[in-house]
Amino acid sequence: MQRLASAGARAIVDMSYTRHFLDFQGSAIPRVMQKLVVTRLSPNFREAVTLLRDCPVPLPGDGDLLVRNRFVGINASDINYSAGRYDPSVKPPFDIGFEGLGEVVALGLSASARYTVGQTVAYLSPGSFAEYTVVPARAAFPVPSLKPQYLTLLVSGTTAYLSLQEMGGLSEGKKVLVTAAAGGTGQFAVQLSKRAKCHVIGTCSSEEKSAFLKSLGCDRPINYKAEPVGSVLKSEYPEGVDVVYESVGGAMFDLAVDALATKGRLIIIGFISGYQSPSGLSPVNAGTLPAKLLKKSASIHGFFLNHYLSKYQGAMERLLELFEGGELVCQVDRGDLSPEGRFTGLDSTFRAVDYMYMGKNAGKIIVELPHPVSSKL
Ligand SMILES: NC(=O)c1ccc[n+]([C@@H]2O[C@H](COP(=O)([O-])OP(=O)(O)OC[C@H]3O[C@@H](n4cnc5c(N)ncnc54)[C@H](OP(=O)(O)O)[C@@H]3O)[C@@H](O)[C@H]2O)c1
Repeated sequence: MQRLASAGARAIVDMSYTRHFLDFQGSAIPRVMQKLVVTRLSPNFREAVTLLRDCPVPLPGDGDLLVRNRFVGINASDINYSAGRYDPSVKPPFDIGFEGLGEVVALGLSASARYTVGQTVAYLSPGSFAEYTVVPARAAFPVPSLKPQYLTLLVSGTTAYLSLQEMGGLSEGKKVLVTAAAGGTGQFAVQLSKRAKCHVIGTCSSEEKSAFLKSLGCDRPINYKAEPVGSVLKSEYPEGVDVVYESVGGAMFDLAVDALATKGRLIIIGFISGYQSPSGLSPVNAGTLPAKLLKKSASIHGFFLNHYLSKYQGAMERLLELFEGGELVCQVDRGDLSPEGRFTGLDSTFRAVDYMYMGKNAGKIIVELPHPVSSKL
């Protein structure tokens, strides 16, 4: 049974059979919260998504955690999700946001076997663009604190780690081309390839990002606004590149295919240049593709993180170990250089998505959700 602690607040103790809210040390969970909801399918985030201000705070089920989100991550595919491209059978309204970092404020009885109130967790589960999110305990990952860097590992770090591990075949001296290299996931592809003693080439769109890539150990940043990528690859890498970590699609994909070495591998991570279009695709020179691959015994592999969840835990553990050991940079971009400043509060998520699609970010874009000072956690 729940009892009201005071108007507008909900008591934390619920000893009902199915839901077992543990003692919350006197702090209160409000009854209502803000969240972002997809109300209309569109790749235009501003048209698709609405900020709702009076939604009930959800209750965790037996195996769930209720997480108070402190940081949420922006992903290129947030606009694919808002366009309904993940599961065309799901109709609006639906929640959005792939990942969050926050504190457990309540939990179900089964979940309490592994988690406790006050614990800090990172999680990969839909609906993070909200003040509170119900997260299945199996989708959560305990982290030592609320450092925003942990959030960079959940989608971006694991995508680079697992795709390169499963499909990269990296070894010393191989040449690796990373596109959108200074972004959320690209930064990890660069660093993990360098750890495998590869020679790394990274594309980006500004001198600041080039400098950032240099600082990560990237051997040859290419600012494509200043130098044509195709010419640089032809003149400086006449034998071609062995591995491509490709996120941009369209013309960049075509250039990367042309740059493949004999037996080269191209991993399709994404095709962001097409996401804002109605189809979500960016056209490529598909007609000539079979001949190009055959002539080089080259291959193209698709990678989608959701298909590698059985290896997710191991990837997170390794990435956390590298980060804690000071061997991995987890660059976050909190929007400090964006026109209206730091991304703070759920309403700044709209600006954060715009900022990504203007190609401005260096590192992973993160939005902070501050909490009232009355909270004791
Ligand atoms: N397969 C998976 O499981 C998986 C998981 C996570 C992410 N991804 C993919 O990884 C890629 C990067 O995602 P992210 O969330 O980490 O984003 P991000 O790299 O942090 O940001 C996107 C970057 O892409 C470039 N860009 C933005 N709009 C563009 C456009 N219209 N045309 C060309 N380039 C554009 C910009 O970098 P520059 O201007 O410097 O090039 C921008 O900074 C996306 O393709 C995403 O779908 C895939």
